[in-house]
Amino acid sequence: MQNHIMDARWLAPTEPSDKRCLEFFKDFKLDEDIESATLTASALGVYKAEINGKKVGDIALAPGRTSMRYTLMYQTYDITDLLKTKNHIVLTVAGGWKSLYPHEILFNPSLPSGECAVIASIDVEYSDGSTQTILTDCSWKMQYSKITMSDPYDGETYDATFVSPKPVDATPIMYPRCSLVPQINEPTREKETLKAVKYIKTPAGEDIVDFGQNLAGFIEFSCCGEKGHVFELECGETLDKDGNFYRGNYRKAKAKLTYISDGKKAKYKTSMAFFGFRYLRLTGWNGKVDIRDFSAVAVYSDMERTGYIETSDPDLNQLYSNIIWGQRSNFVDVPTDCPQRDEKLGWTGDAQVFCKCASLNYNTYNFFRKWLNDMRNDQRPAGAIPQVIPNNANWASPASSWSDACCIIPWTLYLIYGNRQILEENFQMMKSWAEYIIRTDDEYFSSEKQYGDWLSTDIPDTSYMKGGTNRRYMAMCASVKTLEIVTKTAEVLNVRGADFTEDADRIRKKIVDEFFDGNYHLKEKTQTAFVVAIDCRIWPEKNAEFAKELVRLVHENGDRISTGFVGTPYILHVLSSNGYSELAYTLLLQKKYPSWLYPLSKGATTMWEHWDGIKEDGSMWSDIMNSFNHYAYGAVGDWIYTVAAGINYDESEPGFRKITISPVTDSRISYLKASLITDYGLVSSEWKNEGKKTTYTIVIPDGTKASAIIEGKHHSLKPGTNTFVISR
Ligand code: BGC
Repeated sequence: MQNHIMDARWLAPTEPSDKRCLEFFKDFKLDEDIESATLTASALGVYKAEINGKKVGDIALAPGRTSMRYTLMYQTYDITDLLKTKNHIVLTVAGGWKSLYPHEILFNPSLPSGECAVIASIDVEYSDGSTQTILTDCSWKMQYSKITMSDPYDGETYDATFVSPKPVDATPIMYPRCSLVPQINEPTREKETLKAVKYIKTPAGEDIVDFGQNLAGFIEFSCCGEKGHVFELECGETLDKDGNFYRGNYRKAKAKLTYISDGKKAKYKTSMAFFGFRYLRLTGWNGKVDIRDFSAVAVYSDMERTGYIETSDPDLNQLYSNIIWGQRSNFVDVPTDCPQRDEKLGWTGDAQVFCKCASLNYNTYNFFRKWLNDMRNDQRPAGAIPQVIPNNANWASPASSWSDACCIIPWTLYLIYGNRQILEENFQMMKSWAEYIIRTDDEYFSSEKQYGDWLSTDIPDTSYMKGGTNRRYMAMCASVKTLEIVTKTAEVLNVRGADFTEDADRIRKKIVDEFFDGNYHLKEKTQTAFVVAIDCRIWPEKNAEFAKELVRLVHENGDRISTGFVGTPYILHVLSSNGYSELAYTLLLQKKYPSWLYPLSKGATTMWEHWDGIKEDGSMWSDIMNSFNHYAYGAVGDWIYTVAAGINYDESEPGFRKITISPVTDSRISYLKASLITDYGLVSSEWKNEGKKTTYTIVIPDGTKASAIIEGKHHSLKPGTNTFVISR
């Protein structure tokens, strides 16, 4: 049945709602004999719908988060079973992500600021074929909700004692500045529910509950207080070194749930804002805490889980779990840097480095496809890609490795899912970005906005966050890679006029002129400098020399990494592809700071933003930027899938139509298994070391061409299970 949302009017309050939630409602009558009925709705902000007292659908945080000056999504729900002849519908709306935008970008400037708005249609079909439509219009009423505060950073306040003043007529407004489109990606839903695992009375005397897992989502709790009693639940990700509650790293975000009791026993779950947390500090319980009263509900985009990794090493398994929870926490409709502090932003660089691992863990095709739609909308007329998408703050300047997400992500999705559509949709954006790089050249490479190897540890003072590798050098290397991706994309799409090979070569030459000495040795002496030289194919003939230098630097650093956001995703890859797999494993298994496993010694259950978010002496890196739920370094997961387990697509027939399995074992691990659900079916690769024997078990789906390289020897693989036993 067709919906009529395009005929409906936007409804908004006439006065600033000031972070309050609003309820737009209407009573309506229907005939009997309803065959089917749908509700189609959207909001500028966040909405939820109830019909006759029952929640409509199971989507959380609808209508989702987009670049809302251009696009808003709408959702269509089957409401046949909720309807009677006499009905009451309530649409509750909060400002949500809209609050991040300057008012005039979204609204007619004459409207009061702090607005949120809603639009809906109810479409009914009767058994005789006749239809009826109810639209949002001036016949609806509006009142304030008992949710008296909702904010993406500050949280939610529910006042059970609140009685709204008399409802007023809802006001239809003109809201011309964006288009309404149907849901593009999997909606955000409530997923895992975790019960609190521990009650802690801290040395400071505070009441804390611990969920044992850092995550993003809703808080649910039961309480019983006298009328007017205030319960407060504040979020934290970790305790400090004395075991006290710590929330300095949330910066300005209050991240607090406040519940004002009406004197009745109640069970409450937040619904209009989500939180990033592992711990809750409780105020108002006076020590009488029953952990059974508290749950944390993970909320994220409902993508299909496709990848699994399991090994004999409990630390590696915990690392993998931290990667998965990092993804869950930061895939709430938009790929975000972190889910807790006053950011929760779609930082392009973070998404780019994690995209491959994320797309093996889950089917992210629709998720990223939607975000790339926002990126295309937010691309500046001259081709620059802002560093944050949706670009709510109206930032203009691009940065290498961040803006390059516009090329790396479509290309990665194409290789993993084999669908050209993602390249077709984004090619124009990719090409304009390539042209921007070429046109602005030195001005762009040397821009102060370049982040370099963000947060690397190769400088004495790690508070200088842009790392120890020359930023102009890094920008040029990243651009070479981007130009090659755009050239390859044009080849796949058979488009002329987008061959950037000469431009890439010109930049390579510039790199050699500026950053190599008279003997053609790279002058930059950091791990990341050599990693990107190899990964971005700056001088492929010299890869062996670069790798050797990299190995020297790794040894010099006590077999530990010193890379940041840009070097980290590739360091193990460049080591293993140049004959240093054993060292790659040493880095992966390293427990001393800086390493992937070090945070485990401090109780990490998600990936950290800084290698030393909590230092060895238990002190914090700093409050100014210290997220304990940043997925970027989780990129290492893709090395485990594609090198350790050796499951690889082939660029000539992407999407795992042609598969190469080339596992790399290590004697420090007795077994490792990775599996992937591809479009063709399950692919899995497992190896087991037992004494002098290694057993490889590989599962290949029908309809693919597959081969293996086992300890240097080539084998063809058949659909089903293939086993190889190698004895030494
Ligand atoms: C974010 C990062 C992001 C960076 C840009 C930070 O505040 O949390 O992850 O990429 O800014 O440098």
